[in-house]
Amino acid sequence: MIFNIAVLASGRGSNLQSIIDNIENGYIPNASVKLVVSDVNKAYALQRAKKHSIESLYLNPLEFKSKKEYEKLLIENLQKRGIDLVLLAGYMRLLGNSFILQYKNKIMNIHPSLLPSFKGLDAQKQALEYGVKVSGCTVHFVDEGMDSGPIILQEAVKVCENDTVASLSERILEKEHIIYPEAVKLFVEGKLKVEGRIVVND
Ligand code: GAR
Repeated sequence: MIFNIAVLASGRGSNLQSIIDNIENGYIPNASVKLVVSDVNKAYALQRAKKHSIESLYLNPLEFKSKKEYEKLLIENLQKRGIDLVLLAGYMRLLGNSFILQYKNKIMNIHPSLLPSFKGLDAQKQALEYGVKVSGCTVHFVDEGMDSGPIILQEAVKVCENDTVASLSERILEKEHIIYPEAVKLFVEGKLKVEGRIVVND
């Protein structure tokens, strides 16, 4: 079986790229990125999709009456392509309940902190301002809350005394590009079991 993946991205799409690369080099077996969706017309993620001949779709949220209407069209587009797994890769919008129910435990997100610390926007800045000595990144399943779903993988990154938001973000991003493909590989190999909020990796 080939797992059909959709990636939702709002920006530069380096995590999308790491998923594409790891499918192309065989690290993630039996998977294909079928569709890249962005809520931002100029998102570089859309260009990356085109470079790899992956279908891409820009959906402008302002053209919809509500989030529900927006996500109805999004779901239709995913169903048309038989999507098995949805990856949020720098998608800067909270998903609504109808979307989450439709793809329960089939939506993953990457977040640039060690959750449950520093949820939401500017996680690296939050970590620096709080003064933590270790931060990192988390891949988790998406539930109805914000950055609150069951945790799949995490990787720690030391915070240095002279770190800026940019330097810390860069070191965290390197780890993101490792653990996101790893989590997707575990998923497509059927090795992830969700028990309540605990993800068992067997
Ligand atoms: C990544 O650092 C990702 O963890 C973060 O946005 C960046 C997207 O980079 N996501 C969030 O903050 C979600 N709350 P990319 O577009 O190069 O993948």
